[in-house]
Amino acid sequence: MDALSHPPGGTRERAAGISARIAVGAPMASAIGAPTGAPAPADRTPRISREPFGALDDGTPVDRYTLINGDLRVRILTYGGILQSVEVPDRRGEHANVTLGFDTLTDYVERNPYFGCITGRYANRIAGGRFRLDGTTYQLPQNDGPNSLHGGEVGFDKHVWQATPFTTRHTVGLRLTHTSPDGDQGYPGTLEVEVTYTLTRDGIRMDYRATTDRPTVVNLTNHAYFNLAGEGSGSIDDHLLQINADHYTPVDGTLIPTGEIAPVRGTPMDFRRPTAIGERNRDGTFEQLVAGRGYDHNWVLNRRDHTYTELEEAARVVEPGSGRVLTIHTTEPGIQFYSGNFLDGTLVGTSGRLYRQGDGFALETQHFPDSPNQPDFPSTVLRPGEVYETTTIYQFSTTQ
Ligand code: BGC
Repeated sequence: MDALSHPPGGTRERAAGISARIAVGAPMASAIGAPTGAPAPADRTPRISREPFGALDDGTPVDRYTLINGDLRVRILTYGGILQSVEVPDRRGEHANVTLGFDTLTDYVERNPYFGCITGRYANRIAGGRFRLDGTTYQLPQNDGPNSLHGGEVGFDKHVWQATPFTTRHTVGLRLTHTSPDGDQGYPGTLEVEVTYTLTRDGIRMDYRATTDRPTVVNLTNHAYFNLAGEGSGSIDDHLLQINADHYTPVDGTLIPTGEIAPVRGTPMDFRRPTAIGERNRDGTFEQLVAGRGYDHNWVLNRRDHTYTELEEAARVVEPGSGRVLTIHTTEPGIQFYSGNFLDGTLVGTSGRLYRQGDGFALETQHFPDSPNQPDFPSTVLRPGEVYETTTIYQFSTTQ
């Protein structure tokens, strides 16, 4: 798989001074979620618009931004930085929303299993909700059995982010910022966080950046669930998944890595060749799949670059029916493949259909789970004066 170059600087510099171009409150072209089949607009200029999306109980308003570039249309909420919808064409040019989500802010606030959101300060699990750094032990909320998951009770998925829209000649985007105070959810240091979503002609680029005023740990990702046949269309069993990894990190019964870096060869974890997700994820003879009720593991990406600054291909998913393809490039060392095992038919999605087990998958680029307690894993420590910077790209295409 090819390494791409890592464009320096990102979009931040270009954001200044161009936000005035947005069409605030412009009418929305169609309802969310339903496959639109809408012809591409004649005007191919990338554009962005904003509309109110309700308010939290304390009155904090939430906005929804709609970004359009070529054949792609994406909706992002300022609440949780949530990717609410991602509309992409299939091989015949028919559009569908390929990410799971909800229609209302209330659903996101009350029952979101992390659909589309930014997870942090620490995406994934920290064992016992505890870690030691420079001789001090920090206790985090234990919101997932004995462990801390996705930043604790009130993670980045539950905050309203400050949003600055921008357009460039060929892209359109949204820069989201948030300040997490010292001690937030038990984590040390004031963390200044910036996540920039950039919609290109063929995908979504996510640039993550953070700084701190005290030593801390940080691990940010986006938690979109995908179904490339369209959200609400049923199982993802037939999707062909390829993960560029010779190894994964086996877990204990609470999904915390044991510390072992195990080969995928000869196991249902081997996705080095495109393989249908459903082919092996009910293999009850493979203990790891029992622990996760299916796939819910971190793969150790094969990388040429171990400074974690170069974009390299991590995973590729093909949905044979529609021909839609999702390719993921990242600077990160790992990726969590989660096959939607805890969806149980109790959530009603954007287009009014129930999400059942295995109706969506997440591929979360990340540092490995529980790294703060695993000295042999790539470090997630961030110190004052350092800049946390990672990039992930979801690229969409089609195949015959
Ligand atoms: C975790 C799953 C969890 C899901 C939704 C994933 O990142 O690995 O275990 O159920 O997020 O919370």
